[in-house]
Order: sequence, then C-alpha cells, then structure tokens
Amino acid sequence: MNYSDLIHKSYEFPQRGFHTKNQELYFHDVRLMDLIEEYGTPLRISYLPKISEQIQYATSLFHAAIQRHNYQADYRYFYCTKSSHFKFITEEVLKNDIGLETSSTYDLDILARLTADGKINTHIPVVCNGYKQKTYKRAICNLINEGFENMIPILDSTSEFRFYAENIRENFKVGLRMAADEKPNAEFYTSRLGIRADELINFYNETLKHSNAELKLMHFFINSGVRDTSFYWSELHRFVTKYCELRQHCHTLDTVDIGGGMPIQTRLDFSYDYEYIVDEIVKTIKYICEKHGVPVPNLITEFGTYTVGESGAMIYSVEDAKQQNDRESWYMIDGSLMTQLPDTWAKRHAFVLLAINGWNKDYRQVTIGGLTCDSDDFYNAKTHGANIYLPEYTEEEPLYLGFFHTGAYQDALGGCGGIQHCLVPEPQHIIVDKDQEGNISTELFCEEQDSAVMLQILGY
Ligand SMILES: Cc1ncc(COP(=O)(O)O)c(C=O)c1O
Repeated sequence: MNYSDLIHKSYEFPQRGFHTKNQELYFHDVRLMDLIEEYGTPLRISYLPKISEQIQYATSLFHAAIQRHNYQADYRYFYCTKSSHFKFITEEVLKNDIGLETSSTYDLDILARLTADGKINTHIPVVCNGYKQKTYKRAICNLINEGFENMIPILDSTSEFRFYAENIRENFKVGLRMAADEKPNAEFYTSRLGIRADELINFYNETLKHSNAELKLMHFFINSGVRDTSFYWSELHRFVTKYCELRQHCHTLDTVDIGGGMPIQTRLDFSYDYEYIVDEIVKTIKYICEKHGVPVPNLITEFGTYTVGESGAMIYSVEDAKQQNDRESWYMIDGSLMTQLPDTWAKRHAFVLLAINGWNKDYRQVTIGGLTCDSDDFYNAKTHGANIYLPEYTEEEPLYLGFFHTGAYQDALGGCGGIQHCLVPEPQHIIVDKDQEGNISTELFCEEQDSAVMLQILGY
C-alpha cells in the first residue's frame, strides 16, 4: 500500500477542497506544485475565494433556518477582524453584505483607512468589542461623532459607559456583553470578559435608561465554540433568558450577538453538521422568546476562524529524515511550527496535514520537527490527535508537505515580520485568487524576511 492508497482507504477522499492528480495534491483546484515551482518553500498561502464561500454558506444557513421557523427577525454576518487583519482579507470579506467586529484601537484606524479608500462608508454596521483602554474608547467616539451611525460599542464593563456618555455628541447605540461561564474543567468559573449577568438589569435601569444611549444589543461569546454539547446549549439558554428579562425592561433592545466560535475542518475525518447547529440555534432562541412573551431578536454572528481559517495553508519542504531511536522518526522541515503555526504549540491545535507530492511512494509514520532548538517545536500524533503518515523521503527527490486551514490567528499570534525564535524568518506569503472563468492568479504579498530587517530591529 502506498501513501495514496492509505489516504483513500482511511478517509473519504477526495473531499471538499482536496484532490489529487498525477500523484500530487490540489487545493481548491490549485496545483500546489505550480506554486512551489514558482515561489519555493516555506510558503504561506491565502486562497481568497474560500472566504466569500464561507460567508455565503453561513448566511444562507441562517436565512434558511429563519424561514423554516418563521422567525420574525433578521440575520447579519459580521467578520471578526482580529482573526486576520490583512487588507486583502478584509477587502475580500467586504465583497459580501457584512458588518465588522473590532477589538482594539488600531482596528478603528483600519476602518478610517478603508473609508478614506472608498472601501466602506459610514453606514457600515460595526460592533466594537473587547476590554477598552482610553485610546480605543476615544477612537470609537471619534468615528461615531464623524458619522458612523451604525457603530455600536459593546460594553465589556459598566464603567466603560461613562466615557461615551461624555464624549459622543448625539444619541448613540450601545450593546452589553454578558460574561459567559467557562467550561466545567476550566480554570475560572466565569469569563473575565463582559458584565456579570446579575448586574445587567440594574445597570440598564439605573444608568442606560437615563442616558443619551439606546440599548440595542446583547452579546455573549463561548470560548469553547459553537458545539453540540450540553454546555453550549445551556449557556445559550441562560443568555437568551437574560435577553428576554432585559427586553421586558427595554424596548429598544432588539438584537442578539452570539459571537464567534464556529469550527472549521482541522482533520480529514472532521464532521460537523453546520445546518443542524444553525437550525437549533434559531429554534432555541425562538422557543425561549415565545416562552417569555418577547419578540425574537435580530441575530448577529462574529465568526473569525470560520471566515478565514480554511483559506490558509502553509507549505514546507522536508529537509531531512532522522531516525532517533527504533520508534521515533522525524521529518525536519524548512520552517518552524512554533513560530509560523503557533497554535500547534500553544494550543495543541491540529491542522489538516497532507503530502503535496510523492503520493505513489511508500509511507511512514513520522513526527514533524521545526527549525528552532525548542523541544516544543514539533507536530506529532500524540499531541495533535491524529497519526501522521507521510511518503518516504529520500535525498534524491524533494518532498513537500502542507498544513491546511491555517488562515486564522497564526500571524496574529506568531507575529509578522518581527523577531522570532532562533531568528527563523517570516516566510513569504502569496495571495491566490480565482476569477469567474476559473482562472487562477497568484500575487506575492510579502517576500521572506531578510536578515537586514532583523538586525535593524535588534539594534545592530
Ligand atoms: C468577542 C469575540 N467575538 C468573536 C471572536 C471570534 O472567534 P472565532 O475566531 O472562534 O470565530 C472572538 C475570538 O476571540 C471574540 O473574542
């Protein structure tokens, strides 16, 4: 049995986004060997069409569920910008009818720049989340005062409100984030983000009700994601029940923001019933609202990982194979997992991992080793949850492998263009696009970082 037989027998393959031809891997119909031949490795790839596809799919699921349940309110997709701030990503997102979710001061500078460039206008719906320092609050006030009429600061704490009340000239809208409980095995009972559930109604009655702000939405975010678990459903229930109680005090409240956390494919045998989950969310919210006799709210999601995760890939060459004892076999790659895919190290996150060439060769079980000297710079079966089989490597023929669906947070966590462990350089990054006729185009977004830049940062 060769590598190709193994993959075809172990998984449903080909599958969405992946197929082979002439013993080579294609990603969304893009021949990856073409990219490697043109650009070399290590190579970070952003495949833009996947982003709009994700947005359209989730939006269609919410609209279908809304219709199915005769849910008398609307849905809007927001993009959580922190999952990837790159301009080309935001511009792709903005091809769709979406809103934006911000999380820090500089996010608002991005909004100002997009407005100046004519990519958005001041009508765009924006929700501003996160714990807010003064600079962030000031930037929010500035943009609202400049005409961003659909910008809603979501209060992370009750003390945040005063700044807006004092600095926004006209009437404005606000949201409240309710602090979610953490999973039973977490280190804390309640998230540090948001306002305690039992403070919300008093805060509304004592402060917001008498201010120049209109309470518009309630938000929560479940760290562990939108999962079909009793924990998720019971937190959603608790949150919507609180929404109903607050709605009975406040008639301007008409929107619920259920946050991010929609999962993506991280392994070949991934299965997740998006349609069922979305249907269940809409049905549950309607059921609880009817029970309390309040109108159903408009729905907002702020998916980050779901929007951009599956658009990304990271491609490496195998530099060497090392057999360190009878059982432990390593493939050393020309990059670093720890710095370039930091979720693999910090969160033990798995990604889809496949060979790009050599599918007709025998396979072997390996651990992937990164370039830094840190003992945690590896990717293996035990830590990352799936056996790792790759084609036999020989010195005579190059072997390439790809980690797929790496488009969210990896640059944000690993940094972009700074100083990394063992001075591993930032890899080159290309943007891949496809036109209406199916023609593929590529563009070099950034070259591999050179030593001059690093030495300058280091003061040499
Ligand atoms: C408030 C808020 N909304 C949305 C998101 C996006 O989450 P995800 O990338 O899992 O969709 C996050 C992520 O941390 C968040 O904190």
